[in-house]
Amino acid sequence: MERIKTGISGLDEMLNGGIPLKRHVAIFGGPGTGKTSFSFEYLYKGAKEGQNGVYITLEESPESIIENMEAQFTEFKDIRELVNSNKITVSEPEKFSIDSVIEILENSIVKNNAKRAVIDSSTMLRAMFDNENEYRRTIVEFFNLLKTLECNVFIIVEAESGDRGVKFEIEHYIADGIINLYNLDRGGNRVRALEIFKMRGTNHSRDLVPFRVEPNGIKVFVGEKVF
Ligand SMILES: Nc1ncnc2c1ncn2[C@@H]1O[C@H](COP(=O)(O)OP(=O)(O)OP(=O)(O)O)[C@@H](O)[C@H]1O
Ligand SMILES: [Mg+2]
Repeated sequence: MERIKTGISGLDEMLNGGIPLKRHVAIFGGPGTGKTSFSFEYLYKGAKEGQNGVYITLEESPESIIENMEAQFTEFKDIRELVNSNKITVSEPEKFSIDSVIEILENSIVKNNAKRAVIDSSTMLRAMFDNENEYRRTIVEFFNLLKTLECNVFIIVEAESGDRGVKFEIEHYIADGIINLYNLDRGGNRVRALEIFKMRGTNHSRDLVPFRVEPNGIKVFVGEKVF
């Protein structure tokens, strides 16, 4: 099976080599759990391997994302260079609409040969709809459209509850994969942890494992327990 390596240390091992091609993954987590960093590193590592990527932001401005990632990953010295050469594009839709998001995605794939995409976040997509049922119908159609694209998409989903209390959303059912990011309370300290909750088409680790966001990238401590 063809796979795409996330490039995140330890994660590809947990995924038995990577994410199956054209599978779309929900990156699920509460505020500050590292969703943006995690997704940005996936694009960064792709860009370094010759796979262009697009980060579609509906919340923070593109410039703020780039600045934060430069501050977060100080040892990724060439972020700006990759952005300037369009190997990583960070875009916000002109109009606050799902069609605008689709347009960016399709343009990036056609014009820029993007193989990796991040949508930050589906929670903001949801905010475009007055009616929950309308959102559900549209997001299902949207995932059907994604299946036709030659691209691996990460879609960030903001968790409604803290710690490990996962409230399942429509995205959990329709995404091919789910990676949950946590900021767990451990006796007054916050510990970062993640788990691969599902990944269609491949076996994977089901362990809850600690991770750290370091200046030279995220480290997932495979085989370690969260204390
Ligand atoms: N320069 C930095 N060095 C070390 N850690 C940082 C730095 N900047 C941010 N962080 C940590 O990373 C966290 C934010 O990571 P990130 O933006 O990836 O999370 P997020 O899940 O996308 O957050 P949000 O829900 O706000 O979008 C911060 O809350 C902080 O703990
Ligand atoms: Mg974020």
